[in-house]
Amino acid sequence: MSSLPRLTGPQADALADRFLAHCRTAGVLDPDAPSVSWPEFHAFRAHLQTAFEVPTTTLTPLAARVLYGLAAARRPATIATLGCFAGNLMAWTSGPGFGPRPLYPGRRSLGLDVAAEPVALASGNLRRAGFAPGARAVMGDAFDAAEHSGEDRWDLLLIDIDVPGARKSGYARLLERWLPHLAPGALVVAHDVCHPVFAWDLRDYPAFAEDRGAVASTTLPVDACGFEVSRWPE
Ligand SMILES: C[S@@+](CC[C@H](N)C(=O)[O-])C[C@H]1O[C@@H](n2cnc3c(N)ncnc32)[C@H](O)[C@@H]1O
Repeated sequence: MSSLPRLTGPQADALADRFLAHCRTAGVLDPDAPSVSWPEFHAFRAHLQTAFEVPTTTLTPLAARVLYGLAAARRPATIATLGCFAGNLMAWTSGPGFGPRPLYPGRRSLGLDVAAEPVALASGNLRRAGFAPGARAVMGDAFDAAEHSGEDRWDLLLIDIDVPGARKSGYARLLERWLPHLAPGALVVAHDVCHPVFAWDLRDYPAFAEDRGAVASTTLPVDACGFEVSRWPE
């Protein structure tokens, strides 16, 4: 059996642009939201490859491009990543604006993980890569939204917890906890909504997001894991 050839870099850039164009059409991004600078993305990617240690990840190169592109379009000042592990997905959403160090032009990028080891790994990665102190991994339970948010309101929320036993079934409850802490026009990105292993856990998540006030929501089958991207009103 033959497998499909891997996408070249330019093909992956072009396909990511198609997914991001779909996000504009679907209303999760503004029609005139900035597009990605691919040279900037590739410089950032090369930098992360030298600085980051990521023991395992399911994030494909195409998915990394789309995450980066969503953040480049929305330009979030505040980002919360729930279940940050080594900080990989967190880095892609915090990367746009890549330029002279320190990296991360926003105000606060918070990575949360319940386990100490991933937090140490993510913290080492962020510091080695030269992210500004506003980008931090912290040990904590993502369900404690009020405690971790304080007075902040989040422009971009990324959900990627994986709870032993319950796996991804907590996404809706988690979203409910973070809703009062979302900024106007917030984007919420949920990872793994397409994965067959999590199909049952996440079957109602998109409808739940719309029921709880998302003005637009779209599923992006960027790979076997996929993203659900939902937008709240301004
Ligand atoms: C699939 S991994 C996340 C991958 C990560 N986003 C990345 O960039 O590679 C899931 C993570 O969720 C964490 N987790 C599970 N339950 C959690 C909770 N209640 N609060 C915060 N993190 C949690 C796990 O410790 C694990 O590191």
